[in-house]
Amino acid sequence: MINKTHEAVMVEEVLTYLVIDKNGIYIDCTFGAGGHSQEILKELQDEGRLIGIDRDVNVRDKVPLNLKSDKRFSLISDRFSNLKDHVKKDSIDGILVDLGISSTQLDDSERGFSFQSKGPLDMRMDQSTGISAEQWINTASKKEIEDVFWILGEERASRRVAKIICERRIKQPITSTQELTEIVLSCIPRRGKKHPATNIFRAIRMQVNEEIKELYSVLEVASFLLRDGGRLAIISFHSIEDRVVKRFIQGKDRISSSVNFKTVGGKHLKPSKEEIKENPRSRSAILRVAEKVA
Ligand SMILES: C[S@@+](CC[C@H](N)C(=O)[O-])C[C@H]1O[C@@H](n2cnc3c(N)ncnc32)[C@H](O)[C@@H]1O
Repeated sequence: MINKTHEAVMVEEVLTYLVIDKNGIYIDCTFGAGGHSQEILKELQDEGRLIGIDRDVNVRDKVPLNLKSDKRFSLISDRFSNLKDHVKKDSIDGILVDLGISSTQLDDSERGFSFQSKGPLDMRMDQSTGISAEQWINTASKKEIEDVFWILGEERASRRVAKIICERRIKQPITSTQELTEIVLSCIPRRGKKHPATNIFRAIRMQVNEEIKELYSVLEVASFLLRDGGRLAIISFHSIEDRVVKRFIQGKDRISSSVNFKTVGGKHLKPSKEEIKENPRSRSAILRVAEKVA
């Protein structure tokens, strides 16, 4: 069941630092509900173009009407790591990546992203490919599960949760969000506002969608597609992602790209107090903007 639409984060900051040529070509790598795309298009003039991309084909059913009818806009269903298949080298003025999943995906219980509603353990952004959370949790080795919970989830109880999962799945496969949540609650006591299953669900989602691998790829791809002076804006929600982005901009941990970037708008940007009040989901957002230099 889909309940509410996604609210785009740090829109003002994205527009200020990303849209440098109103007749330029831009890519929204994480189209989602089209919140950022709509605002970018409002800024662009007649010659401007915006390409949206999302690996979740379901976003096509929810494209806002004004975007559907806008000739300056096109939408691709693919992983952003495949952008080189769709766009020419050195041709792009600005690239936006707003990492993670949208509220629309999170609130759809059939997608299995949330510990707050009962649903099948799927968690794939693109349900036509890859392995689901159910397949992963029932087949991965105990060591792999521990590592994913520890590294991607930063979960201190990683070993305890992995152990109980492996004991349970011998008796019966774990197939629902509810079963997984109950397992986590039996291992991690409730403390404060944060639900004990938060880190575990995030870790599994990042694992089945290969999110860190995708992030490294999109940074490399952006270096290839941006023209000199073109800008890259990345919104991340977790320290793991932000560290990858920061180090890439600094010229560290690159796989193939030898392109240089300079930071724009300060080291990093955070949402205003007003935005956090209006949209609490924005509180952990970190925006980094960098310009490709010749
Ligand atoms: C946080 S939401 C973006 C919301 C969007 N900025 C808006 O304002 O509505 C992230 C979106 O990116 C998509 N996504 C995540 N990783 C992706 C990838 N590797 N390739 C393509 N799309 C991806 C997700 O399916 C989701 O729809």
